[in-house]
Amino acid sequence: MRRSRILGLGKALPDRVVSNFDLEKLMDTSDEWIRQRSGISERRHIEVGEETTSGLAIKAAQAALKNAGVEASDLDLIVAATLNPDYLFPGIGVSVQDALGCYTIGAVDIRTQCTGFIYGLSVADQFIRTGTYKRVLVVGAEVQSTALDMSTRGRDVAVLFGDGAGAAILGPCEEEGRGILDTRLHSEGKWAKELFLEAPSGSLPRHEELADGLTPRWYPVMNGRKVFIHAVRRFTETIHEGLVATGNTPGDIDLLVPHQANQRITEAIGKALELAPERVYSNIHRYGNTTSASIPIALTEAVEEGRISEGDLVVLAAFGSGFTWGSALIRW
Ligand code: UT7
Repeated sequence: MRRSRILGLGKALPDRVVSNFDLEKLMDTSDEWIRQRSGISERRHIEVGEETTSGLAIKAAQAALKNAGVEASDLDLIVAATLNPDYLFPGIGVSVQDALGCYTIGAVDIRTQCTGFIYGLSVADQFIRTGTYKRVLVVGAEVQSTALDMSTRGRDVAVLFGDGAGAAILGPCEEEGRGILDTRLHSEGKWAKELFLEAPSGSLPRHEELADGLTPRWYPVMNGRKVFIHAVRRFTETIHEGLVATGNTPGDIDLLVPHQANQRITEAIGKALELAPERVYSNIHRYGNTTSASIPIALTEAVEEGRISEGDLVVLAAFGSGFTWGSALIRW
């Protein structure tokens, strides 16, 4: 059976480092609380007016193209995930298409938040498996900093999230047994309001929204404990599903690269799967939760750091707003 594989990876992060101590000056929080509860020490925020979600996506895509040795003109499809696009519509896929100069190829926008990269990878994988396309860009890009409530009211969410982008170029895998072995996608919309951003919305007349002022509806809200409990359960479940489907066990995993939501969630998954800490990748201390960008950024860094070798079984998994969750198993 024809499979797809990752030909190259790239990332883009804003230069501006925002430490926990910087946040202490804006809200009632502490470096100690943030590090203990989430494992985060710092994150990146864009310079407003200079950087955008699509701008980060474009930089990550260019880095991935270079890493893969693929020309933008060879791409057949763009799959772009974000929760905070430059405009409510159109999505960022078309901006990436325009900047890369790819000849009118399709651009699919994915809206599954923290699971965006896994969904994107699965979409790209299907197109390559069927032989429809040969080169697909999957990019996850987020500018969260402009949408966060940086006062004490929004501290539970504001301290967790950061800006950044990561990208992968997918192509057909020529070698038997290698490539993306399996992807799993899930959703459970009854939990949509446990982590969501209400406005601007299509369900309220715009003039009512404008009269609303800067209420909490304009900022993301999260039931942290509920998200945490569901995340640990679903991460573990979907990884098991992929392992069973491919005839593997947790002991076969060489590196787990989970969505970077919270160091405590990552450690709980590692424990549930009985993985030694060196077999679970984490960079949340540097970037916080970058939603759809977190897996491709982590994967890029894991490869750069020599944590992944040819033939390794690499497992990706994510959980987030929706709720949505999913996994991908890759024989590198
Ligand atoms: O990518 C998927 C999306 N998100 C996630 O996966 C996040 C999942 N949830 C979490 O990571 C955790 O639930 C949090 C990090 C958000 C919170 O950790 P927690 O251990 O569940 O804390 P908590 O919500 O039980 O809050 C404990 C206390 C509360 O005070 P009281 O009610 O006990 O007096 C909060 O008001 O900590 C307070 N608190 C803060 N204190 C200082 C909440 N945020 C902050 C803050 N600084 N930033």
